[in-house]
Amino acid sequence: MPQISPTGPIQPRAAVLWHGADYNPDQWPPETLDEDVQLMRQAGVNAVSLGIFSWAQLETAPGRFDFDWMDRAFEKLWAGGVHVALATPTAAPPRWMTAAEPQVLAVSASGTRLPHGGRQRFCPTSPAYRRHVERINTALAQRYGGHPALMLWHISNEYVSNCHCPLCAEAFIGYLKQRYGDLATLNAQWWAAFWSQRFAAWEQVEPPRPAHGTVPHGLTLDWQRFRSHQMCEFFKFEAATVRAVTPEVPITTNMMGKFPGLDYAAFAEVMDVVSWDCYGSVGADPVHMAFDHSLMRGMKDNRPWLLIEQTPSATNWQEYGTLKPPGVLRLWSLQAIGHGSDSAMYFQWRRSRGASEKFHGAVVEHAAGSRARVFGEVAALGAELKQLSPIVIGTAVTPARIGILCDQESRWAFENAAGYARDKRYLGELQRHFRAVWTQNLRIDVVQHHRDWSGYDILIAPRLYMLKSGLFPREGTPEQLAARVDVAAKLAAFVERGGTLVVGCLSGIVNESDLVYEGGYPGPLRQLLGIWVEQTDCLPPSAPGSFANGMSLDRDVLALPSVSCGCDRFFDRVHLRGATAAAAYTGNWYAGEPCLTVHRHGHGEAWYIATDPEAAFLEQFYRHLAARHGLHPTIEPVAEVEVLTRRGGGREVLFILNHAPEPRSVAIAPNADAAAADAPGASTAAWHDAHTDTVWPQRLELAPLQVRIAQRRLDRTTG
Ligand code: GAL
Repeated sequence: MPQISPTGPIQPRAAVLWHGADYNPDQWPPETLDEDVQLMRQAGVNAVSLGIFSWAQLETAPGRFDFDWMDRAFEKLWAGGVHVALATPTAAPPRWMTAAEPQVLAVSASGTRLPHGGRQRFCPTSPAYRRHVERINTALAQRYGGHPALMLWHISNEYVSNCHCPLCAEAFIGYLKQRYGDLATLNAQWWAAFWSQRFAAWEQVEPPRPAHGTVPHGLTLDWQRFRSHQMCEFFKFEAATVRAVTPEVPITTNMMGKFPGLDYAAFAEVMDVVSWDCYGSVGADPVHMAFDHSLMRGMKDNRPWLLIEQTPSATNWQEYGTLKPPGVLRLWSLQAIGHGSDSAMYFQWRRSRGASEKFHGAVVEHAAGSRARVFGEVAALGAELKQLSPIVIGTAVTPARIGILCDQESRWAFENAAGYARDKRYLGELQRHFRAVWTQNLRIDVVQHHRDWSGYDILIAPRLYMLKSGLFPREGTPEQLAARVDVAAKLAAFVERGGTLVVGCLSGIVNESDLVYEGGYPGPLRQLLGIWVEQTDCLPPSAPGSFANGMSLDRDVLALPSVSCGCDRFFDRVHLRGATAAAAYTGNWYAGEPCLTVHRHGHGEAWYIATDPEAAFLEQFYRHLAARHGLHPTIEPVAEVEVLTRRGGGREVLFILNHAPEPRSVAIAPNADAAAADAPGASTAAWHDAHTDTVWPQRLELAPLQVRIAQRRLDRTTG
């Protein structure tokens, strides 16, 4: 596997910010290629993702390849200075294959073999499909592996996994045997005595289908896990086919942010570089993308990653095809780069004439070619990225010391739990806490449970519903075994050495099989938090700005500017067992009972928030906790202005983004606390504008949607 430094570049042969798009010359008459390359030069395009979904054009019959069009594309693109992220075309098999071997297609939950159709409809277990995949991938790698334009493998496209065929069902049983070892353990972990669900033989376990009605939650959860695992094994298989020929070419597959279907943490172990497709909605809160970028880059220790798809204008699948107003393309591209991306790429280069994506945004639209507004904005960004490349490449997001714990399996279990409320959104609450830190201009990462936490001072776990014991799976792949972690023990060690932990309500409820911890919530965290929770009240969410209950703070314990705030939705009834109450409910029949507690443990402290407090409280609370660790915003927060930094190569790069449709004014002079306290790596060197190299004034005026970028030297020891 290629060795990529933690600050990049991702590919030393293409050590620039990649600017480009999904490109399918196979969908166009051959003469379009020359015009496209010409337009790409004009647009400052230096990279394309080539051949996604092109299988039928590459292999016209089993083993009969037509590489002519791709040969021409490689040559002309390379002559035009454009690198290639070469796709394995395997997300959509050709018709000759599905006609001859329908078993390559997935079986739906109702038991029907899918007919040939759109994309991502194959069975990840099918040996026949794997044979075909190996043949085309190997042929592509052998043909283009030595081409100087090849910089990256783009494996498949947006994996989705939901096959219920007999082969998958059999593999599921094998997976469960490894996970639990014996049926008695499986029955116990799934609480299978309930409703006579007990399994007397492995063969009785079936993938859950709607017709089964309610099945044990442990089964639903394991099926979800297995589907993700099986597709990840397929991804591994695909990766191996090209790695065998081109071990030095990095590999990615494009992920989909908050997509609920897969556990991307496992996929990240297979890829050399993270990439993802970001389709923000015009007018949405910018925190959504900030969170998603952090979630995606956190899959691989916050190393440089790739924004591999975004629309240049509108999508064809969001509720409304709203065009990105002028300036938004630049703003969102630079937001991604500020969050650690080494690219700004689009879906798609040329807007197709037919089929389902003909009204999806593209760099080259149906009308006006290079004269169109969108093309102009893309070309302007291309020129700017060329200028920014030497400053940005070789840096990665500045390490954060605050992290928010996120776990897809916990999300699956929480959202599937029958109880508390029907509408339970795991990521929604994580995002509220993330936002409260992010709006303070304090750096924050989204952190996976099995990654290294040693760089963090503060860890936030708003909905740690599932607390993995680390006991399962009993056996598994090396990656599965490495991901096994006793989360409570890891958290205790974190606090012990001086960390601050914040746990939110509905945490520590179940183990990794969705089996409830007895003796009071939050299960194995009771001792660390010095509390136990008896029960949780749940009320419908209040209208914006009003709250079902309140929190009254004890200022001797927690001195925040406000002494009271609202709280909503979930209300734990907490008993103290060593912890100190820092706030009490002001209303309902449990008024006066604790709703915020703190407990010292080792050199650190563990907080428990027993409810969902209003955003204003969370902002004050996190700013207070951060200050106690000497963490202060480098630049004072201004509403709707995002501040991001990257570091590496002895320099720091600062991005200031005005997401507001109005002008904003930002004080650049570092706040006195921050200059001293933001160490290691603090610098008081002046910020130099990335474009003009002039020293920035003490106050920066930003036009609506404007982004300003600067750099400064870092101490030699810290850069
Ligand atoms: C992505 C996909 C692309 C294209 C795009 C449209 O999810 O990878 O192939 O369909 O959506 O927005």
